[in-house]
Amino acid sequence: MIKVMFVCLGNICRSPLAEAIFNHKVKNRGLEKVIIADSSGTSHWHIGDLPDPRTIETAAGHGIQINHRGRQFKPDDTKIYDYIIAMDKDNRVEIDSIMKNRQSKARVLMMGDFDRNSSGTDIPDPYYGDKMDFQEVFRLLDESCENLVKYLVDTHHPDDKR
Ligand code: 4NP
Repeated sequence: MIKVMFVCLGNICRSPLAEAIFNHKVKNRGLEKVIIADSSGTSHWHIGDLPDPRTIETAAGHGIQINHRGRQFKPDDTKIYDYIIAMDKDNRVEIDSIMKNRQSKARVLMMGDFDRNSSGTDIPDPYYGDKMDFQEVFRLLDESCENLVKYLVDTHHPDDKR
């Protein structure tokens, strides 16, 4: 099993949306027994919370259901997950500091590295924005998730194990 953890700040906007889009794409390829994603936040602010209503609405508008409760990224996640994908540079700094001096199997990557058009840039935090900002985040995550799935398939050559 290839395990992917998406990380943002609050775990109610970007990372649960990334998780839902990614798992949707994985399922469409029949790879749900081989690749699985979860999400978490670097903050403790929304532990146990449902995603922001705008996150749920944006996903639903694209035919994607979200089943997630907020949880905080924890040190042991670095032993469980193969890939930890940060939404922005602040998330990355937090993840790197948690991983410092720890044994870890995880590779830490930036979500923006998988976007062909804006490689390397942050996925902007839509929390203080409006519906259009959520739509733009969806577009960026959809593109990045597509490329990330392709990257994992190319790297690990998983068979359809259904
Ligand atoms: P996220 O967005 O990191 O994409 O989930 C945020 C959600 C909540 C807050 C900040 C960012 N907040 O300040 O509560």
